[in-house]
Amino acid sequence: MNKHVDIAASHGGSIAFAKNAEIQLDASHISLVADAVGTPFYCYSPDAMTLAFQELSEALSSVGASICYAVKANGNLSILQLLSRLGCGMDIVSGGEMERALEAGVPASKIIFSGVGKSPSEIAKALRAGVHQINVESPAEFQLVADIAASLQLRAPVALRVNPDVDARTHEKISTGKKGDKFGVALSDVAALFDAAAERSEVDMVGLAVHIGSQILDLAPYRSAYRVLADLVCDLRARGHAVNRLDLGGGIGIAYGSNTAPDVSEFAHIIADTVGDLGCKLTVEPGRWLVGRAGALVATVLYTKQAGDRMLAVVDAGMNDLIRPALYGAIHPLEVVRSTLGGEGQSYGIVGPVCESSDIFGTYDNLPLLSTGDLVAFRCAGAYSASMASTYNARDLVPEVFVSDGRFRIVRRRQTTAELMTLEKDTIWQNIVPG
Ligand code: LLP
Repeated sequence: MNKHVDIAASHGGSIAFAKNAEIQLDASHISLVADAVGTPFYCYSPDAMTLAFQELSEALSSVGASICYAVKANGNLSILQLLSRLGCGMDIVSGGEMERALEAGVPASKIIFSGVGKSPSEIAKALRAGVHQINVESPAEFQLVADIAASLQLRAPVALRVNPDVDARTHEKISTGKKGDKFGVALSDVAALFDAAAERSEVDMVGLAVHIGSQILDLAPYRSAYRVLADLVCDLRARGHAVNRLDLGGGIGIAYGSNTAPDVSEFAHIIADTVGDLGCKLTVEPGRWLVGRAGALVATVLYTKQAGDRMLAVVDAGMNDLIRPALYGAIHPLEVVRSTLGGEGQSYGIVGPVCESSDIFGTYDNLPLLSTGDLVAFRCAGAYSASMASTYNARDLVPEVFVSDGRFRIVRRRQTTAELMTLEKDTIWQNIVPG
């Protein structure tokens, strides 16, 4: 495991799997990898991830902002290692993500702990590990972090995540910055919390954070949110508080086929215009933008069938492997990697095997004829695909595979049902009340 393997000596030449931040799906190579690892599998281009990171770092270098990758987008250890080696920090939202980041060799000093519901044990672990920053999202969490830091005799580096009351103009399920959303501290509570922090020696109030949502395509809401931050910095400084760091969140969208992705240099301009001259250390927390385009989910066509007046192709990947269409109505661009019958102009509803009517990836037009054994790939599946997968219908988590330059590397092997069932074996009854 985790060794690079030559895809086929006969393909000898070096085929790069990325020219930009998007994976290039070389049909013959993907077919060979599918034969070797079985389908479904997630196929990632580390080269495309590298290019994405480099493009963003370059764009942000003008404002001196550092990048902390949002691990939730895809927490595979090999991806974390890759990004960490490029100099990227990590944004985590759970103890599990912290363990992953540390295991991948990310220094705690480059980890930011975000999240609306950190448990006491997660906070204690993060403080003991010495994370760079904890983004606190409520007055109650602030008290808890301060109390835990005091009991551990440590100083907690805290930033307040504020709710700027800005509509990110994205899907309602991934919009996080409006008043009434569960995220962040209300603007009216910020000053009081900075005042309270000044009284607690175990808290080092380092700055502010904001994250207004995900898959943001229109950059204007960033401008509004960062203006709110800039005003807050001025107000807090006028009250005598130091504000040294600003965490500007993630959320930059990518093109899933039809839409147009924002330009990251424009994003950098917005940062420069709004918070660039405050003398704060700036950080951004993108997830999807760094890894989303670099991945595809490869599946085999199991059957085709007529359903009413439409043709369906049933594939071996399901909503448990890629839940975004079912959850957000997302459409991932489809590429037919192998079609035995060829042709064109066909329309298919592409559906999975899971016993839910929502297990449908979408209706795709202008496809070749599909038949059993053909291969398809859902593009833009590098982010929020493997990381949101489940074992519903007792379907095992599927492999994640790096492809680069004529070689592949299984970076997570296929789970087995036997492994999962182990957790359910040798169970015993225990008294609820001891004694
Ligand atoms: N920072 C914080 C505090 C976040 O909550 C998130 C994402 C990010 C950064 C990274 O956002 P990104 O750059 O990846 O958009 N499952 C959804 C996306 C949920 C995003 C949750 N928070 C989807 O598949 O579209």
